[in-house]
Amino acid sequence: MAGTEALEIFKLPGKVAVITGGANGIGWATAQLMLAAGARVAIFDRDAAHRREDAARAEGRLSLHALDVTDEAALEAACDAVIAAHGGLDILVAGAATVVRAPTLELSRADWERVIGVNLTGAFLSARAAARRMIARQTGGAIVLIASIMGLSGGGLYPNVSYQTSKGGVVNLTRALAVEWAKAGVRVNAVAPTYTRTEFIRPLLDNPELMARIAAMTPMGRLAEPEEVAAAILFLASPAAAMVTGHVLAVDGGFLAQ
Ligand SMILES: NC(=O)c1ccc[n+]([C@@H]2O[C@H](COP(=O)([O-])OP(=O)(O)OC[C@H]3O[C@@H](n4cnc5c(N)ncnc54)[C@H](O)[C@@H]3O)[C@@H](O)[C@H]2O)c1
Repeated sequence: MAGTEALEIFKLPGKVAVITGGANGIGWATAQLMLAAGARVAIFDRDAAHRREDAARAEGRLSLHALDVTDEAALEAACDAVIAAHGGLDILVAGAATVVRAPTLELSRADWERVIGVNLTGAFLSARAAARRMIARQTGGAIVLIASIMGLSGGGLYPNVSYQTSKGGVVNLTRALAVEWAKAGVRVNAVAPTYTRTEFIRPLLDNPELMARIAAMTPMGRLAEPEEVAAAILFLASPAAAMVTGHVLAVDGGFLAQ
């Protein structure tokens, strides 16, 4: 293999990708990149209505499924709808998440359970629903979970225990599922982004002092852009990563290397 032919291993022709949390931020950047790489994309998001025009322009290659990732029945039904509409389910990117930034002594049990429910249980339910079909249909597949540098660190700008715990869970969910499903041809990896320019961190983006602290604590001295995280997700989902499973790929400008 040589020249441009070799680049084909980074593309996804004919593949079908489900992206939870795909209507905004990193998920939306991933959807656009995967469409450009030749995939068909199904967005599972509780807030996807503003992407209707994009879906209409995509000539059937982009579908929207309004759901909450904590709703097991809705996830299972949407996976069946994806197979009916697009003819398969080859890739899952699980990115739906929420955050409650509060000191532990002020964090209610309800907020703790909501963050764990969306970020960790939602990732589990999404991965299980997708892999159930990849395994039953004997197609294999690739799953990429979106963790965080906060899944590998207890530090950061402020106390954030429910988010950090949920993302730490996503890190080991990645490893356990990778081992369990390797022989079935389902690869499971994760990305661990640093602070990334999306609405998820709007309170930080609007605070110059916090932005300066992020720059100071990051060797590369800046935030990530959503497209930079999407590029790592595309790699892990693509045939280029055919021998990679159970890996957590930091996209963090050197944050975790310190
Ligand atoms: N932005 C950052 O700094 C950063 C850093 C590290 C990791 N991450 C992770 O990246 C992923 C994507 O975050 P983002 O920055 O693109 O945020 P975002 O807010 O732009 O996008 C998150 C999406 O998830 C959807 N969502 C939230 N809860 C949902 C639920 N219960 N059911 C269905 N959809 C739901 C939202 O509607 C939204 O479209 C998340 O897992 C987040 O934890 C983000």
